[in-house]
Amino acid sequence: MKSKLAVFFIVIMFFFPLLLSAVQNKGVKEILLSGGKKGDVLFPHGMHQASLKDCNRCHDLFPQISGSIEKLKANKKLEIKQVMKQCRDCHKGKKKIGKKTGPIGCRGCHRK
Ligand code: HEC
Ligand code: HEC
Ligand code: HEC
Repeated sequence: MKSKLAVFFIVIMFFFPLLLSAVQNKGVKEILLSGGKKGDVLFPHGMHQASLKDCNRCHDLFPQISGSIEKLKANKKLEIKQVMKQCRDCHKGKKKIGKKTGPIGCRGCHRK
């Protein structure tokens, strides 16, 4: 009986990380970000998750909560354009090393 219980726990422990990744909330595929006077930015969230893997490449600046960027900006916990700088810096860096990348020019992101 005891050994059955042990096997049961080993199995659970083995599958627990898989279970966690299956239930991880990845959020929506596309997010419309407020871009002030320059016009809003349609951000392909799902595409970035697929190509970058590491969530904290972006979420080190703001939590995985809808509207968190605007909230942090309003509370002065994030500078205006700080997130934008993170977006552009990565795009520039990838371009430099000849990798597939996203827009660098204003109109590539801001729709106005
Ligand atoms: C390239 C940047 C970037 C990466 C990488 C990224 N995110 Fe996000 N994520 C964002 C932005 C921008 C928002 C919108 C925040 C806001 O609304 O203020 C967001 C919002 C979210 C939200 C809340 C919105 C919703 O749809 O519920 C969740 C959940 C989330 N991300 C999960 C993840 C997870 C999990 C990963 C990794 C697998 C990840 N994100 C990787 C940029 C990114
Ligand atoms: C890679 C995408 C991207 C590019 C390229 C880009 N932006 Fe942005 N921009 C954003 C995002 C995302 C935000 C909202 C988050 C923030 O404020 O950091 C933003 C916010 C802004 C804001 C509003 C700040 C506020 O809250 O009032 C202005 C103004 C702006 N950008 C101007 C520019 C100009 C000018 C250029 C070209 C030199 C440019 N952007 C290029 C993504 C981009
Ligand atoms: C750590 C690197 C990194 C960060 C941060 C990042 N991107 Fe990107 N972005 C990429 C890469 C790589 C691609 C190309 C992905 C591909 O083609 O598979 C891309 C592509 C894009 C595209 C083009 C999509 C298309 O249809 O061609 C847009 C728009 C974009 N990013 C916007 C943003 C915005 C807005 C932010 C900030 C909120 C951001 N990115 C942050 C790496 C990044």
